[in-house]
Amino acid sequence: MAEPSAKPRTEPLANPFRPGNGVPPPYLAGRDALLAEFERFLTEPHPVHANWVLTGLRGTGKTVLLGEFAGRGERAGWLCLGRELGDRHRDEAKLVEAVGADCDSLIRRCDALAGVGQAVERGLRFLRPRRVMVGEIGVEPAYDAPTIEPAEALAEGLAELDRAVANTGRHGALLLYDEAHLLTDDRRRGQYPLSSLLAALGRVQRDAPRVRIVLCGLPTLTLNLKRARTYAERMFRHALVANLERGDAWDALGVPLAGGGRSFALDLVGDIVAVTDGYPYFLQFFGGFLCSRVPRPTVERADFAALEQALLYELDLAFFEDRYAVAGPAGQRVLEVMARHARSVTALDIRRSLPETANVDQVVARLLERGLVFRPSRGRYDFALPLFRAYLRRQPNLTQLSRGR
Ligand SMILES: Nc1ncnc2c1ncn2[C@@H]1O[C@H](COP(=O)(O)OP(=O)(O)O)[C@@H](O)[C@H]1O
Ligand SMILES: [Mg+2]
Repeated sequence: MAEPSAKPRTEPLANPFRPGNGVPPPYLAGRDALLAEFERFLTEPHPVHANWVLTGLRGTGKTVLLGEFAGRGERAGWLCLGRELGDRHRDEAKLVEAVGADCDSLIRRCDALAGVGQAVERGLRFLRPRRVMVGEIGVEPAYDAPTIEPAEALAEGLAELDRAVANTGRHGALLLYDEAHLLTDDRRRGQYPLSSLLAALGRVQRDAPRVRIVLCGLPTLTLNLKRARTYAERMFRHALVANLERGDAWDALGVPLAGGGRSFALDLVGDIVAVTDGYPYFLQFFGGFLCSRVPRPTVERADFAALEQALLYELDLAFFEDRYAVAGPAGQRVLEVMARHARSVTALDIRRSLPETANVDQVVARLLERGLVFRPSRGRYDFALPLFRAYLRRQPNLTQLSRGR
């Protein structure tokens, strides 16, 4: 009988790549300097910036990095908790509830570290049941929470966590919030979730930043922070998560292949790095596709040429179609205008090509917000994602195909 540790015979042609959302890659390329800086930050009792913000386009590896931060934080003695924010957290009340629940869960861990007795006592103090049963009757207790300001309610939970963590001898507690660009202040609706969160953090971190936050999201998060608080710049160390540099993109392909006993011809790796522009999701996708379709240990450039159409078709379905769909009809018209140009366009180019479309500037602003378009220089716009222009140029054909599905 084979030993349990022996690799099954089929494994020499394993596929090490992991295209997906927040899926840790087989080799985390090009992030060593940032991770080292993050680990330094965790050892500093009074860092220059008490919090971090990670911004970047979709598919650049933010969620993966946030997970790595949490793992390293825990190993360095921090209590870490990650959360993916959603649209509902634009409502202050929902954000207060979510942060409160996160504080509760970390406080429980602190109390477990400090001794069980306290857990019960604090549990009654800070955890506020929404509905308690008195005999047969459900009662919704009237707490003072609805009357206090959201910033105050947030600060209360964070301060309680701060006290709890101080009792444990641990360095501190770290909240890691993904998709944080969704937290926008909205004057019209009278909702200020982001301002409230920043105000609460500022208050709790005044003496010692034992409770810290890492916010992660699309590039608009940077602007939202600036709008929310003029001093947000002092509260956050900004890290940009971008495409991998050439050498790192090579490693992102080469290291997992070597580990799995496979290889890509050097000119093929060069092609993939160039075509994907080091965009992490595409590196995983191209690598994964070729490994799954080529039944030989070494994949050659000719294999890629033969499979390229099939690969692009899969990529359209797996990646581009959704992005095109979320742009909406007006956004799609703008994208199509942009695709007709070989390079970046000006707002005027777009307006001229779409005389019938009202509020072109707003449509473009929404594309920017969604990370489909970026501004390479003032007044010029280009596609934020590699290969998106080529996708749009194939688009009429594709739409027919997918309609026929
Ligand atoms: N540093 C990296 N090296 C190689 N692949 C990566 C790297 N970072 C992310 N990836 C891969 O890219 C894809 C997208 O990562 P993800 O964290 O979901 O991006 P984001 O949160 O920015 O949208 C995943 O398949 C992941 O495995
Ligand atoms: Mg993500």
